Amino acid sequence: MHLLLLSAFICSFFKINEGADWCYQSQDPCASHCKGPDLWKDTENAASCAGTSQSPINIVTKRTRLDERLTPFKFRGYETVFHSLIENNGHTVKVDVSTDATISGGNLTSVYKAVQFHLHWGEKGGPGSEHTVDGEQYPMELHIVHMKQKYSSLGEALKDKTGVAVLGFFYEKSSENKNYEPIINALKEVKQASTNKSVDNLFLNALIPPPTSLTNYFRYQGSLTTPGCTESVIWTVFEHPILLSRDQLEAFSDLKFKNGKSMVGTFRPVQPLNGRLVYRSSGNTLLASVMLLTVSISAAIGLSRPN
Ligand SMILES: *[C@@H]1O[C@H](CO)[C@@H](O)[C@H](O)[C@H]1NC(C)=O
Ligand SMILES: *[C@@H]1O[C@H](CO)[C@@H](O)[C@H](O)[C@H]1NC(C)=O
Ligand SMILES: [Zn+2]
Repeated sequence: MHLLLLSAFICSFFKINEGADWCYQSQDPCASHCKGPDLWKDTENAASCAGTSQSPINIVTKRTRLDERLTPFKFRGYETVFHSLIENNGHTVKVDVSTDATISGGNLTSVYKAVQFHLHWGEKGGPGSEHTVDGEQYPMELHIVHMKQKYSSLGEALKDKTGVAVLGFFYEKSSENKNYEPIINALKEVKQASTNKSVDNLFLNALIPPPTSLTNYFRYQGSLTTPGCTESVIWTVFEHPILLSRDQLEAFSDLKFKNGKSMVGTFRPVQPLNGRLVYRSSGNTLLASVMLLTVSISAAIGLSRPN
């Protein structure tokens, strides 16, 4: 106990991690000589990490505001099969989207094209999503990163307050999801940091819930969840989770960080809202079920419409 306190003190006092790379809390920043989430703001070009519109956030559903403009998305090219590289970049596993796939609708003011997707997860299927809903942390979260079609790089898009649109999806433990086989199989080939492997037969629709389950979502203005934490992201977080088996979720914990330790706990802690509003789309079944319940209760106690 005393030793632990002492080493934490020495670590912060002598700034042993000066100039170090950023890392997650799970990587034991002090012992690993890297900068944990509290110090991301001190890493290169990451002053925004101390900003006031940061992501992820905890979504308090009863404080969300219904907005009828949050209509269903139009997905184009999400059904197109493509080949790409899956890469362990030392922080996550990432796949570049090498096909023309776009989203529009959902109150977005222009068409956004998919650039890459990556994931955030816990330890062996334990809590690991970045966003939480009413305090609940899901085992994993998928981020499909899009930028306005007119830009040719993410760097360029991040200079525009609404240049980037990320779609976030939660995962839930269920039965095996065959659509994830190409990715889960490729994980074995990219266990070490800074390695990559080609993957075939990918298409974005296979990775996300069916369109009818995508009408319920939350919307807010936030940031990238890794340094530089740029505040240029329109966030859409879908209510309906993607289903994977326990084994499939656990497969991500076999990946390694740069120092060879298990790549787990790859999520940033939730950030303060600082007065931001979180909106919800009108297709929200959570509220629909509350209303149904109200109707059936009032019927049961004889408060239904007199006839
Ligand atoms: C919908 O778009 C309009 C115009 O860009 C914007 O003012 C409004 O805040 C958006 N609503 C939501 C819920 O994002
Ligand atoms: C993928 O890995 C190979 C080595 O296996 C390397 O030469 C190449 O630069 C890597 N590509 C990317 C995009 O990281
Ligand atoms: Zn992410």
